[in-house]
Amino acid sequence: MTEDLINKKDIYFPSSLGTNDNFITLLNRATQILCDWFSNAEKYGPLTFDENFKCLMPDEYGNSTEDLFSEIQSLLNNSFNPVHPGSLAHLDPPPLIFSILGDLIAAGLNNNLLAYELSPSVTLLEESLCKWFAKKIGFNDSSGGIAASGGTLSNLNALIAARHNAGLGSDPNSVLLVSEDAHSSFIKCTRIMGLDDSNLVKIKTDNKGCMDIDNLKNSIDQCSINNKKIFVIVATLGTTVRGAIDPIKDISDICKERNIWLHIDGSIGGIFGVTSIPIEGLNNINQANSITINPQKIIGITKTSSLLLVSNMRTLENTFSTGLPYISSKENIINRGELGIQGSRPAEVIKLWLGLRSLGLKGLDDILNSSINRKDFFIKNINKNKFEIYSGPLHIISFLPKGLNTKDTDFWTQTKVNELMKNNFMISRPKFKGKYYLRVVMGNYNTNESHIEELLKILHA
Ligand SMILES: Cc1ncc(COP(=O)(O)O)c(C=O)c1O
Repeated sequence: MTEDLINKKDIYFPSSLGTNDNFITLLNRATQILCDWFSNAEKYGPLTFDENFKCLMPDEYGNSTEDLFSEIQSLLNNSFNPVHPGSLAHLDPPPLIFSILGDLIAAGLNNNLLAYELSPSVTLLEESLCKWFAKKIGFNDSSGGIAASGGTLSNLNALIAARHNAGLGSDPNSVLLVSEDAHSSFIKCTRIMGLDDSNLVKIKTDNKGCMDIDNLKNSIDQCSINNKKIFVIVATLGTTVRGAIDPIKDISDICKERNIWLHIDGSIGGIFGVTSIPIEGLNNINQANSITINPQKIIGITKTSSLLLVSNMRTLENTFSTGLPYISSKENIINRGELGIQGSRPAEVIKLWLGLRSLGLKGLDDILNSSINRKDFFIKNINKNKFEIYSGPLHIISFLPKGLNTKDTDFWTQTKVNELMKNNFMISRPKFKGKYYLRVVMGNYNTNESHIEELLKILHA
């Protein structure tokens, strides 16, 4: 450190002595800016971005506090605002207050989930919370899980464990089976695993967007004729475009009969599995070997927050443990860097834990139920003579005008999205099986019935 830095170190780092008054002032100021941004959401709309926005890079000397706060403000002014009631495009709901606080505390703690000695309390917290989730969905005592940064990584952890468990290593004949409506990140996972698109077998879906069991059985037979070795079948619990749930019981019977690992991608719907909310098709999830639950997508745990739960923790240990020769270990405690792909990891579990502790199970039910109620209200009130609706038991609805030619869906959806945005509604237009659709995701608990009525008025016009 230079002399100058030593003198000023309390400006840059929290002080280990004294009161940290300067830091507290900065935190208060940052909190005020953030809260003003929330409070002004309705004034500015769901997405504000100025094409002249500039990204300033570090100068030779550090910038002043005033410069930094003005840059923070500029970032906020040019951002997507999830708390706006018209923010209905994606799986990015408003953040829970205690989850924001959890992020702050995790950042300040700066503990590392790589190892117990670098994060004793949060290592135990993550282990306990994963176990709590695993028990809630009906797994037994040998179950548990590991957190990761997002659904893609949790799924990837599962696929790698499944392949390892099947003893297939890097066998080029190994294949994974997913439905054609599964999330596109499975293509990425396949490539990361040293396989290619031919190792990803896509099973057809029925007219409700659920995996077709006859097609699954035929594909399995075809795999054995072609000497392809299936290491996992993935059932999706909540597809991205229409929230469909694959037939978990049937798939699990097939997996058991043939000794194949069943992974459930519950990135969207898995969280319903810890509640008693009746969702059609949401049963038997405890028959899986692993399931991804990704609470950032629906209940407002701040990004990122994803868990992979496994029925048998040994499968993760056997797959990922290499030993950490430079880190001490403690008997009966596994360093969590030994249970998944990621090494150093922040204590993200704090925001999931605090979010859930603040909501309680009742609050969790209320949030999830309210998303289903908004979906039901939208479907009840949309003109069904005019629109074809594609929706499952969860809170996602895709739709298109009846009789629209495939080639016209691009222009029509883009025109509608632009028109809605001018009216402060942000909705998405996924491309799905060659057509564009409009999609609303009803996870925003600031959206009430009168907002939905206004949205429908514009759509019906
Ligand atoms: C069903 C499903 N699985 C996986 C993912 C990937 O999650 P993430 O973006 O958190 O990696 C998504 C993303 O929307 C999803 O909808």
